Amino acid sequence: VEEARRAAAAAPTLEALREAMAAYDHCDLKRGARNTVFSDGHPAARLMLIGEAPGREEDAAGRPFVGRAGQLLDRMFAAIGLSRTSPDAETALYITNVMPWRPPQNRDPSAEEVAMMTPFLARHVELAAPDLIVVTGNTACAALLGRTGITRLRGRWAEAWGRPVMPMCHPAYLLRNPEAKREAWADLLEVKARLTR
Ligand code: URA
Repeated sequence: VEEARRAAAAAPTLEALREAMAAYDHCDLKRGARNTVFSDGHPAARLMLIGEAPGREEDAAGRPFVGRAGQLLDRMFAAIGLSRTSPDAETALYITNVMPWRPPQNRDPSAEEVAMMTPFLARHVELAAPDLIVVTGNTACAALLGRTGITRLRGRWAEAWGRPVMPMCHPAYLLRNPEAKREAWADLLEVKARLTR
């Protein structure tokens, strides 16, 4: 973790951070991954979204949230006027994950793996400097808020690294539990309201 902290702090730009992560050799997950998945979308976006880890499709593509969960994510944010392909920071979305490498069989990243990569994530947030952060799922809650229990945390603003954080259910969870989409919609409206006030 100490080494991760040093490498992250030494990166002056997002591009340098991407290179520092790709060169970081202390996380076992890297050995089984095809790509270091860094981010997608507009780095100057007012909203930054943080997921868990790449799945099979993300690992192959080298981009976060390109599979089924990612398609749902895109539809959800399109509904409040935000898109990762927008060139305008006001309506753009910037997306990353806690882990840049796919865990074997898509298992949850361990607490140790999350702790090891969190200095990179904190630096990523600092360099992107979003106004608001959305964390989806328990892994991202653990990394930013030090807590899990997304069904209780969702829908209420929290704070991490000096920025407002909205916890939401993960889109992969919403695919399995469509009844939870109502709550996710309420959370999205809350994010939209805070962006426009
Ligand atoms: N789930 C995530 O948390 N992140 C991805 O990039 C894809 C699926």
